[in-house]
Amino acid sequence: MKKILLLLIALFVFVDTNAQSRSTQIYENGLVVSAEVYASEAGKQILQQGGNAIDAAVAVQFALAVTLPRAGNIGGGGFMVIHLTDGTKAALDYREKAPQQASRNMYIRNGEFKPELSWEGILSVGVPGTVDGMVTALERYGRMPLELVLQPAIDLAKNGYYLSYSQARALNNRSETFQKYKGSKKYFTRQNGIPFKEGDLFVQEDLGETLEQIARYGRDGFYAGPVADAIVKEMKQNGGLITHSDLRNYRSKWRAPVIAQFQNYELIMMPPPSSGSIAITQILDMMDDYALSELGHNSADYVHLMSESMRRAFADRSYYLGDPDFYDVPKQGLLDPKYNHARMIDFSMDTVTRSSTLSYGEFSNNYESHETTHFSVIDKEGNSVAVTTTLNGSFGSHVAVSDAGFLLNNEMDDFSAQPGVPNSYGLIGGEANAIEPGKRMLSSMTPTIVTKNGKAQMILGAAGGPRIITATLQSFLNMAVFGMNAQEAIAANRVHHQWLPDVLYYENYGLSPDTIRLLEAKGHTLKETSIGRGHIIYIDAEGNKSSGVDPRGDGHASGY
Ligand code: GLY
Repeated sequence: MKKILLLLIALFVFVDTNAQSRSTQIYENGLVVSAEVYASEAGKQILQQGGNAIDAAVAVQFALAVTLPRAGNIGGGGFMVIHLTDGTKAALDYREKAPQQASRNMYIRNGEFKPELSWEGILSVGVPGTVDGMVTALERYGRMPLELVLQPAIDLAKNGYYLSYSQARALNNRSETFQKYKGSKKYFTRQNGIPFKEGDLFVQEDLGETLEQIARYGRDGFYAGPVADAIVKEMKQNGGLITHSDLRNYRSKWRAPVIAQFQNYELIMMPPPSSGSIAITQILDMMDDYALSELGHNSADYVHLMSESMRRAFADRSYYLGDPDFYDVPKQGLLDPKYNHARMIDFSMDTVTRSSTLSYGEFSNNYESHETTHFSVIDKEGNSVAVTTTLNGSFGSHVAVSDAGFLLNNEMDDFSAQPGVPNSYGLIGGEANAIEPGKRMLSSMTPTIVTKNGKAQMILGAAGGPRIITATLQSFLNMAVFGMNAQEAIAANRVHHQWLPDVLYYENYGLSPDTIRLLEAKGHTLKETSIGRGHIIYIDAEGNKSSGVDPRGDGHASGY
């Protein structure tokens, strides 16, 4: 009976997902948009029980750890940006940290750099920050007790949920890798060898128990006690570095948000170790001298101007950005409009500036993974939260903690393990982002809240490695400059440039053949790919909310 009931709910929500993702339905009260239907529903449930946007965001984060194992997590980290109706603006950094035993030579074997050790397996794992982040956010801004906001996630883990087509496929695609790790084999493959399929009930007993530990003991339910013991045991058995002391000492951190102005909009964004806020501010400054709406959305000139601005911002990212607790990130210089306008002095509308001739600027003083995930929440009072959270690659390190039921991140790859050598995203990093014990690795995650006249108007962000930055930028410009609604803005085809490799990426059918020819004539090398996966909430002047659910994924809007 229970199974039939769950199946009916699943059928309802799947049908509903398709309807929502194409609609511009208006919600008067609260709204949650995330990568996955059960998680959005968990957030809505908390809002309807009287929780505020922070309570709901914490519920969504924990629910995603159950229902989106490839990116949602308790074994990873993330960033949360908050805007409250009383004007409060806050940014919480719960990014992972390098363990105390980490060193810049940790991926060297017989004198040779082995980047694959930072892509998969036990040495790729950073000290997880998510649980501390959720407890910290709830303590400062939430209204509900932790056990209440955790309940939907606990129920989803213990009773199970029905796998979507893409989730079953994602698990099956990684089956061979999961076989290598005892915990992952147990949790994420079928003992009988039969592949997962859409509609399978997926139960995670051990994860449910871990979540209950957190509900009962707060951060100590994860960073101490049996869960911490299980993490350290996993490390010891497999040659990993994380110790009890790394776990005990992990703390998330409130940081002053980066605030950028563009026309009448104020963008509230995550500061370093996110690189997104600085890059977006730079790109907007670089594009600001041009009448963007007259260039036309995705015209050759618009794409050229935007990609040349991206090229310059990513060159700066590679040199200047890292963990501000370890390296004096020259934020003021990078955010100075004069500096950014000067960066465009050699820009020509007719021809590219080759990346080989372009480096970071000076002022006074790969492979693509989508498996980060973004969600946006607003409550009926108008408090808003933007969260981007990740294990880094799809299923992170692929190592699940035996007996505790969750996957660990492979976030160590976001350091420039060898300054000057590209990471798995093809990103080049410098000394600012070199590995040091206790340091946070640079991130592209860019949760953003855009206000107008002091009120939240857009809550947005994306998944997709470095493409997070350019996807979030284009979603914003699509609404702010081209007047698209949230759904049109998120669905519109995107482009991406990250300095190196010197390639202008575009999406399938995203540029017409004659636009491509015009861009090639300017000197661009173009390559087709998919660019990011984001979610948007848009709030109109009357306070009505609508959603932008990315058609590139399984996202879902749950509102009331
Ligand atoms: N791991 C993806 C990011 O933080 O940018």
